[in-house]
Amino acid sequence: MTTTSAFDEIRALDAEHVMGTYARAPVAFVRGEGTRLFDSEGRAYLDFLSGLAVTSLGHAHPAVAEALADQARTLLHVSNLYYNDLQPRLAARLDVLVGGGGRVFFANSGAEANECAIKLARRHGQRNGGPERYHVVSAYGSFHGRTLTTLAATGQTQKQEPFQPLPPGFRHVPFGDVGALSGAIDERVCAVLLEPLQGEGGVVPAPPGYLEEVRRLCDEREALLVLDEVQTGLGRTGRWFGFQHSGIRPDVVTMAKALGNGVPIGACWARAEVSAALAPGEHATTFGGQPLAARAALATLDVMESEDVPGRAARAGERLARSLEALPEVVSVRGAGLLLAAELVDGLDARAVAGACLEAGLVVNALTPSALRLAPPLLVTDEEIDEAVAALAPVLVREG
Ligand code: F0G
Repeated sequence: MTTTSAFDEIRALDAEHVMGTYARAPVAFVRGEGTRLFDSEGRAYLDFLSGLAVTSLGHAHPAVAEALADQARTLLHVSNLYYNDLQPRLAARLDVLVGGGGRVFFANSGAEANECAIKLARRHGQRNGGPERYHVVSAYGSFHGRTLTTLAATGQTQKQEPFQPLPPGFRHVPFGDVGALSGAIDERVCAVLLEPLQGEGGVVPAPPGYLEEVRRLCDEREALLVLDEVQTGLGRTGRWFGFQHSGIRPDVVTMAKALGNGVPIGACWARAEVSAALAPGEHATTFGGQPLAARAALATLDVMESEDVPGRAARAGERLARSLEALPEVVSVRGAGLLLAAELVDGLDARAVAGACLEAGLVVNALTPSALRLAPPLLVTDEEIDEAVAALAPVLVREG
């Protein structure tokens, strides 16, 4: 008689009932604690992906868990037809971190935060520049989400191809190319939408001085500068927001992933004057900014501030980058803070390496065919970094 593992049962149930939109790795996680994950067979893993840059405080953080349990006993949800006590407090906290002078709309994901930003930019453009000013310029290699509109903004044709026709009004330019951007911003453009450091598209930082030039062009042409900080925001790059490595101030900033440390919540911040372009009734969501998600985010921000997670990400990122660079199979390391890509030598297949890492108890992601993405929790310790690199090193030798 063959024995069926807990994982086999999960995989069979998934195959029968869950839409096949994911090419999943052969493991089911059932529990987490800090930087550790545990699978259905009781094996432990070091999580150097954080659910794709989500669980910045690690898994099951006691302060977040306690806040969630308390809020679940108090009030999970009320409609946005009414006030709740937590949403404005969270908005005020985020406004301080972004730099002040703005208002916030709450959503449930990164894509939805970007939808808000795009709708806001269109209303702002049309109110100030007439009905034709609704076009958005974004960058090739960008990633802004999978809804039809955020997919239209995403500068990756192979992801767009199966879903044509996409909503009109999006144009793309090479990331970092000021001349191309200048050529693309005409009087029909309401906004430029960029990640300060492209994440999913390859962990590509903006070239020095680029955002300053983009800001200047946007001011000159009356286009809004919208920054997608869904992945870079809230400490991951070593500052609260990726744009804070530059000297600029954006008009709109979106965030999500790390905001609830795993509880789904997104936010779109906009300068107060810009935010007024969306009139009451023009944008809404059932769940956005509900008490449970807002409470999770408030608890997350409390810990992020008391632990100085941007500073920790900067320091830990240095250590991780230096350790990775020392591996002979790593050609180069790029990124900022704890959002890093390790480019592998010719002949190493990142997907095979990520799979072998998983078997060795280390969770990382194949970012491109030749690069790994590493995004551990921002509270990761030096010992955990050393342990992860020690687990990666023999995998690289074996796969080489
Ligand atoms: N914007 C950026 C910069 C992102 O990295 C993502 C997701 C999104 C928007 C969409 O957010 O999934 O909450 O709707 N990035 C994941 C990744 C998929 O692999 O980096 P969502």
